[in-house]
Amino acid sequence: MAQGIDSSALYQQYDRMKMLKAFDDTKAGVKGLCDSGLFQLPQIFVRPPEELAAELKHKKGQVQVPVIDLSGVDDCGRRKQIVEKVRSAAETWGFFQVVSHGIPQSVCDGMIDGVRCFHEQDVDEKKKYYTRDTTKSVRYQSSYDLFLSKTATWKDTLTISCDSSFDRDELPSVCRDSIVEYSEHEENLGNILLGLLSEALGLSTDFLGKMECSKGHRLHCHYYPACPEPELAIGTGKHSDAGFLTILLQNQLVCGLQVLCGGQWIDIEPVEGALVVNIGDLLQLVSNGKLRSNEHRAIANRMGPRISVACFFSGPIDERGKIYGPIEELITKQNPAVYKGVAMGDYVMNFLATGMEDYRALDYYKIQPSFEMYPL
Ligand code: OGA
Ligand code: NI
Repeated sequence: MAQGIDSSALYQQYDRMKMLKAFDDTKAGVKGLCDSGLFQLPQIFVRPPEELAAELKHKKGQVQVPVIDLSGVDDCGRRKQIVEKVRSAAETWGFFQVVSHGIPQSVCDGMIDGVRCFHEQDVDEKKKYYTRDTTKSVRYQSSYDLFLSKTATWKDTLTISCDSSFDRDELPSVCRDSIVEYSEHEENLGNILLGLLSEALGLSTDFLGKMECSKGHRLHCHYYPACPEPELAIGTGKHSDAGFLTILLQNQLVCGLQVLCGGQWIDIEPVEGALVVNIGDLLQLVSNGKLRSNEHRAIANRMGPRISVACFFSGPIDERGKIYGPIEELITKQNPAVYKGVAMGDYVMNFLATGMEDYRALDYYKIQPSFEMYPL
């Protein structure tokens, strides 16, 4: 043993990798663990002691992110008011909820039901989709950064990339129709929201659309089982979303999503019929910091399952050479560029090479970066 290396720490590390691998190899996810009968949290899901201690000191805020009614969005006077509300929420919270968003309740309910059916179906059927190969347009896995993060997350996820190569026949049959229908509605709503955000930035309605911010969206269909020791676990760790925009559907019964604002965790309580909208890192970058991509997380719950569907609009991630930087129209002498331009390929590679924890990738693209990223 080399001098100075703590053998017990090494052993623990080795043991953890072995445990992670064994868990991953079951291809049955957290749901599979729960079904095998569980009263205690397996070690790989226990958050590090310093994180648990910090949690006790964290204050919890009682405010609510704005709920914006989108009815009459095409009516000129009404649209002005809506744009103003969107601007204010996107500049401060980076989060808001929308109601009367045009997606029928039956389509949202059908999507939640479809996700539930996928995760609760026979495990042998589900296993066929278990993979960590990010080039696959349909994949199911537990913790996308399982081998990079300090804590395995208490959830399983079915991911669907809805780009041009998307083939509906590849979708799992239990949720095929609901996904196709929901995805079409999401694309439409994504474009409406990008129109409002363009106007909120003082640009023409089609500006962000023309930048291809909504090209090829991805659905992350999360299933958070009931957790035996929720105070020790985490559903989705603290992170900000890497793309331009996220729309999140959550089932009405179980609260879990929280946004970090002014050092306080704020619950985003499910509102009947509402969808949660949040700004991603790339939109913060192209808006030169005007719109905020705030950090958020999902806690684990004793009650469950909690089901949520995050729809990410991340732009043309396959166009590796496409550069995104602060929009020229927003740059003035008084408001100089804060961020550098970044090629899509590098951006995606950096994202995949790092876990979601500890630092914000966005800070690396500042003209004066606050830290060094891994060498590309
Ligand atoms: C995400 C996310 C929160 C949730 O998928 O990026 O933040 O409530 N999900 O599932
Ligand atoms: Ni997120």
